[in-house]
Amino acid sequence: MTAPVRVPLRLADAHGRVATDLRVSLTDRCNLRCTYCMPAEGLQWFPTDEVLTDAEILRVLDIAVQQLGITKVRFTGGEPLLRRSLEQIVAGAAQLRTRTGGSPELSLTTNGIGLDKRVNALAEAGLNRVNISLDSLDRERYAALARRDRLDAVLAGLAASEAAGLLPVKVNAVIMRGRNEADVVPLAQFCLERGYQLRYIEHMPLGPQHAWDRSTMVTQAEILTLLAQRYTLSTAAEPRGAAPAELWQVAPDATQPGGLLGVIPSVTAPFCGACDRTRITADGQLRTCLFSRTETDLRAALRGGASDDELAQLWAGAQSRKAAAHGIGEPGFVQPARTMSAIGG
Ligand code: 5AD
Ligand code: SF4
Repeated sequence: MTAPVRVPLRLADAHGRVATDLRVSLTDRCNLRCTYCMPAEGLQWFPTDEVLTDAEILRVLDIAVQQLGITKVRFTGGEPLLRRSLEQIVAGAAQLRTRTGGSPELSLTTNGIGLDKRVNALAEAGLNRVNISLDSLDRERYAALARRDRLDAVLAGLAASEAAGLLPVKVNAVIMRGRNEADVVPLAQFCLERGYQLRYIEHMPLGPQHAWDRSTMVTQAEILTLLAQRYTLSTAAEPRGAAPAELWQVAPDATQPGGLLGVIPSVTAPFCGACDRTRITADGQLRTCLFSRTETDLRAALRGGASDDELAQLWAGAQSRKAAAHGIGEPGFVQPARTMSAIGG
């Protein structure tokens, strides 16, 4: 008797895309209150028993990487550093092997606070890269945007990540009209001087309900206009592919050695057609898009005794129904009820 031939599952959808990049949120909590993400008083956090345990997360990662073809795992939040076991989760993930036999690429999206004290342990555990959110280099503007006076802690996290060799250090900045347009060039200069890769992210309708407005969003075109007043820019040779950032090469000058700057034009030039992502929230819900309005309850299946094969099938089924595009700006668009912190960036 011959063993049945098993066609490896993959996270394919009806629009020709295959997900290979998993975003896993480790907590919905955060120690900042960025105005575009949360109300000043914070949110109603998930009860502890609804958040996936370390063992559950590692089981989900095992299925994603070893059965479903995921090759990149990004840990997000809320603020993932608030998960005390982050180092153990990273170490567990680093033991997994993708279908081609390598380790999955592991990265962390963080606000950087407290990273200076943990980045060496995280790198030793197998973390490959960090993306640190930094919306202003001006202490007062930073404190106004994040509603916490923590700029120095973020800068310490950035420097420590560089020292730990997590290169290239990536920086994310959300620019909002009337709030931090003055930071566009200083952030670029700061990153170029240090060899960090800065990516400006267009403000998306994901924060407190009604906080987003097309008129307060600073677009890719406006950001490029501000940058072009100071730098010589050319389109970077690297194709955009599934990476959301459009990259620009900055010519060196007397003040900086040149480098790459990116813009993630999620609203004005969405990259949905090339999206290779799938997501799991801290409370164990599968979401195939940031803007999904439906979720698949992986936690209930996990806790209900489903086998690895059943969980993989559930995931593949959810992914097959992934919507073609987020539809921001279309008449029927409805903002998801969860904020970025409750989904995972
Ligand atoms: N629009 C764009 N970016 C956002 N982020 C959080 N909320 C929004 C939003 N509404 C960013 C954070 C962080 C990353 C995870 O997503 O600043 O850099
Ligand atoms: Fe925290 Fe990130 Fe939301 Fe800011 S954007 S409040 S750092 S989860």
